[in-house]
Order: sequence, then structure tokens, then C-alpha cells
Amino acid sequence: MDEKSVIEIEDKYLARVYAKKPVVLTRGKGVFLWDINGKKYLDFTGNYGVCIAGYSRPEIIKATRRQLERLIPCHGSFYNETRAELLEKLAQIAPKGLTKAFLGNSGTEAVECAIKMARKFTGKPEIIAMMGGFHGKTMGALSATWKEKYREPFQPLVPDFKHVPRFNIQKIKEAITEKTAAIIAEPVQGESGIIVPPEGFFQSLREICDNTGVLLIMDEVQTGMGRTGRMFACEHWGVTPDILCLAKSIAGGFPLGVTLAKEEIASSLGVGEHTSTFGGNPVVCAAACATIDIIVRERLPERAEKLGRYFLGKLRELQSKYKIVREVRGLGLMIGVELRVDVLNIILEAMQKGVLVLDAGKNVVRFLPPLVISEENIDTVVTVMDEVLEGEENKRLRSSVSN
Ligand SMILES: Cc1ncc(COP(=O)(O)O)c(C=O)c1O
Repeated sequence: MDEKSVIEIEDKYLARVYAKKPVVLTRGKGVFLWDINGKKYLDFTGNYGVCIAGYSRPEIIKATRRQLERLIPCHGSFYNETRAELLEKLAQIAPKGLTKAFLGNSGTEAVECAIKMARKFTGKPEIIAMMGGFHGKTMGALSATWKEKYREPFQPLVPDFKHVPRFNIQKIKEAITEKTAAIIAEPVQGESGIIVPPEGFFQSLREICDNTGVLLIMDEVQTGMGRTGRMFACEHWGVTPDILCLAKSIAGGFPLGVTLAKEEIASSLGVGEHTSTFGGNPVVCAAACATIDIIVRERLPERAEKLGRYFLGKLRELQSKYKIVREVRGLGLMIGVELRVDVLNIILEAMQKGVLVLDAGKNVVRFLPPLVISEENIDTVVTVMDEVLEGEENKRLRSSVSN
């Protein structure tokens, strides 16, 4: 199949819910992707933060191939040794006390499970979420997601969710009632533009939860597994949530969502109250085991911290060079560049030049690269961003002169 046919077929038969980029990706290796015409791209999207250890890792291929040849499905009502191996690994890396896991298939499912655990354990309905927060698009998770565009067409959503201004401790305190089960928050807001919390926020939030008996759910679907410079972003602040949601990068590209919780909270769910046919699939578990091994062995969180600092420094040099750059921010290798202009053009131009980057809303260029990138890769991306920003700024200047 050629590029044109692939695009035509996808456009014809796939529900049009994705903002498609005009590229057909067919192969990946390390930090590079290739399109159907053989063009090579340096990938700083990590496929939306999924490919944390790079593409086509031999360890992940070997582990999944071995499992494929032994057993593909194994429902949660049976036992399986690969799943057991993953559960042990999770228990070893999990924040202290989060000893029980539910295995699902995506980030939104990890959040659904967290919401159900919180409601069941506390016997209360209310969930407080942050303005700007993103937690997924199934009905429960969507009810915690902030963006009006995602919510409005699907009203009425799940009742008893409310949003408070992010990082506003006073407003959070005021929002808590005797019916509040939990507060849900991303450690760093991803989809709404890489918003890093002020120092002390999560410590205060933990304190409020401790004082009121309200559960703290941290959604680490995007921040987890080393992305921000710690295995879990909550470790930056020495805060342990009651429930922790993971997905995206945890299985190196295979679909896995994990809800980690304290024993008594997870155990409040009874047999049959929350299950998934595919959840805990052995092939996916094998991929997750191999991915976790790589993250630990190659100290990817430390690498993310070091390279994130380097990348932020380089991007801040661009900020001082171009007026259209409003702010550069991030934690580890979760980085956003907020522009005073729409980012779509910037992203498409970078793609033309062989670099893939993401957006986060209208004005933020987002970087979620594999954590195995090198300083040289960062320099390449910074050079391309420099060229693209210069082009965009000059275009603006020319149009303001001609007006
Ligand atoms: C913080 C957060 N939670 C939940 C989700 C939903 O994950 P999924 O798309 O796997 O359902 C995302 C996806 O971007 C996310 O960033």
C-alpha cells in the first residue's frame, strides 16, 4: 500500500476523532521513526509519551515473542505466571503502601477504576478535580476531565464531580463536604499545557486529605514511569497518594492501565465489581516486565532529570531569542514551550524537517520523548525549533509591516 491509499482508507473507515497528521508511520528503532516513503524522523512525541524506552527494544520484543508463543490470553479469573511476575515488579517499584493493583487496558480505565475504588471504599459520591485537569474520555474519567469541548456534547456526565481552580488550596478546602470521596489531580498537568505545580502544593493537598479523610488520587498516566525525573512524579514532593493511576509508557507501547491502591481501598471492591476481559493480558504483562526492567536497569528516571535540565536550558535560550515564545516549562522530560501563536504550523514545519513534536492545546509545543534520547538528539531538536521559530517570527514581522 502506498501513502495515498493508507490515508484514503483510514479517512474513509476510521471514526474521525483524531486530528490526523499527514504521515504514515511504518517503522521505529530507538528514538527514530520512518514513514512509508522511507523518510526518517527524530521522535520527540514518544507516541504521546508511550515509548519511554525507545522503539523496537530487543528486550521487549524477546519477552513478548516468548509469551506470544506460550499463551496470548489469560482471563483474570485464571492465574498466570507472567502476570504474577509483573505484579511483583509493580510492588517493588510502587510508592510505599500501594500494594494492590488492578490491571486494565488504558489510562482512562485506570482512572475509572480509581473513581470506583474511592466511591466504594468511602461510601461517598463526590470527586473533586482540578480545572485544567485531563483524566481520559470514558464517562467517569471524562467527568473528572476539565475541558468543556470534551465534556459538553456528552452531558449529562456522571454526577457529583466538581472542579476547583488548580493549585488553589483554599478553594479545595471549601469544596470538600461530608460527601467527598476523593480529590484527583495530575502531578503535572499534561494535556492542558505542561503545568508544573507550585512548590508545596501536593504536600498541602496530602495534609488536607489526611485531615478530612478524603482520598488522594494521583493520575500519573502521563507523568509516571520516570518521565519527570522520578519513577513517579509524586516522589518529587515526598507525597504518597491513596490511589495511583498509570498507563501510557508502562508496557513500552502495549495497552496497559494500572490502578495501584492501598490494600484496604483496593479490597473494598468485591468479586465481580470491577473486571476486564483483556486486563492483565500475559503478552502485555511480559512487555511491562521488560519495560520496567529497562527503566530500572538504565536508570531512566535519573536520565530524564539530567537531560530534562539540559533541554530546558537550551529551550530557554530560544525563549530569550524569540518574542513569540511566552514560556518554557517542564519537569524531567515532560516539557512544554508556550507560544504567543498557534502551534500547528510549528509542528507541521518541524515534521517537514524530520522532527516529530506534539501540541498541548492551541499554544503549547509539547515534548514527551523516549527517555533514551541523547544530548545530541536534543541539540538536533533545538536546532530545528530554532529554524521553525525564526521562520514563524519573521512571517509575523512581515505581515505586521505590510499591514
Ligand atoms: C493524565 C492522563 N490521564 C488519563 C489519560 C487517558 O489515557 P488513555 O488515552 O490511555 O485513555 C491521559 C491521556 O493522555 C492522561 O494524560
